[in-house]
Amino acid sequence: MKVLVIGSGGREHAIVWKLAQSRIVDKIYCAPGNAGISEIAECIDIKVDDFDALINLAKHEWIDITIVGPEDPLSKGIVDAFQREGRKIIGPNKTAAQMESSKVFAKEFMKRHRIPTAEYKVFTSYTHAEEYIRMKGSPIVIKAEGLAAGKGVIVATTVDEAIAGLKLIMKEKAFGDAGNRVVIEDCLFGEEASYMVFTDGNAIMPMASSQDHKRVFDLDAGPNTGGMGAYSPAPIVTKDVESIILEKVIKPTINGLRSERIKFKGILYAGLMIKDGFPNVLEFNCRLGDPETQPIMMRMRNDLLDISLAIAEERLSDIVPAWQDNASVCVVLASGGYPGKYEKGKIITGLEEAKKLDNTVVFHAGTAFSGNNLVTNGGRVLGVTALGDDIKTAKERAYKAIENIHFDGMHYRKDIADRALR
Ligand code: AMP
Ligand code: GLY
Repeated sequence: MKVLVIGSGGREHAIVWKLAQSRIVDKIYCAPGNAGISEIAECIDIKVDDFDALINLAKHEWIDITIVGPEDPLSKGIVDAFQREGRKIIGPNKTAAQMESSKVFAKEFMKRHRIPTAEYKVFTSYTHAEEYIRMKGSPIVIKAEGLAAGKGVIVATTVDEAIAGLKLIMKEKAFGDAGNRVVIEDCLFGEEASYMVFTDGNAIMPMASSQDHKRVFDLDAGPNTGGMGAYSPAPIVTKDVESIILEKVIKPTINGLRSERIKFKGILYAGLMIKDGFPNVLEFNCRLGDPETQPIMMRMRNDLLDISLAIAEERLSDIVPAWQDNASVCVVLASGGYPGKYEKGKIITGLEEAKKLDNTVVFHAGTAFSGNNLVTNGGRVLGVTALGDDIKTAKERAYKAIENIHFDGMHYRKDIADRALR
């Protein structure tokens, strides 16, 4: 079978890497892909939101199924566009993708279906929002409604900070139209975890639990990023916690969507805050997490194409989930300056040595070829991911592999997964 993967990050490299092991995959295409992906798939230079060009590619190359990585094309309706042409594609349609693309939609949905989440109010008026913040006091959380690459959320510890954040979103329009409406919600405390499931709209196949590290520096200091590393499993998600997540969050969400006649097929990702064994939803995403996918794909035994076909054909309940009983850790190597301004085109060395190590895979994110050189081409450059019997061994392997790798300005966190070892 022929598969097309849409996207160009570490998540997409992990998806392609996993598909390449499938016994039923004959050829993988990736649009637009990156240097690492080009070693195992044919990369086609088409933007993720150029639906006409992507559909043409799928038609001309007789692609059997398309898997979408990032949220942007999902929120713009790539699934609807492919389905109008009768082409198989994995992901929620535009209406269902609002679970991620509109925080107002997601909060109102959670309220209707009694899914545990922080108390909130929605504002379109700056003045009313400011009054509400002054009335509630701090800490308090301000969220731009729309997609803002993970940056539209301000967890404010003082009222002044909250109002500065509100101004940034609503007056200065730092995130454009994503800030036309804001959600202001109570601050939750506890430990975060990511919980993802595959779903065909009816059946659910849970993935191994995971946790990412959003802040750029060690000990969770500095600004938020797309994610500086991740590990799986997340020890906070014990068997008991997992069954509460499934009963109180995942099942009510899938059933609630179905009861509202919203077809959600693909991946549902719940960002959770867990306190005293009870989860509250921080956010929903409608796609795989990046970098959570990198450690998760390394632990998954199932064939990813089998799962994808089962989702498309609405027979996911046929799949028996199979996970390795081990652990995996991914450490992201980022460009100097990331998540702020950074330069591209720095030569990357040492990957051949790192690749020789057992149980270690270097997933590419922002990389490209420049002549014969592999060079940096984005903020997050590589995700060095290792397996081990436990988190400690996996972590040691990942950091050992990193000792081989170099590019100018390279920086990374030294404490990925330490939280899981406490
Ligand atoms: P979100 O995009 O909604 O997941 O928010 C991004 C990050 O902001 C989350 O991963 C949390 O670290 C933090 N956050 C979001 N909502 C809350 C909340 N209600 N209380 C505390 N922290 C939050
Ligand atoms: N790692 C967080 C995300 O993918 O949204």
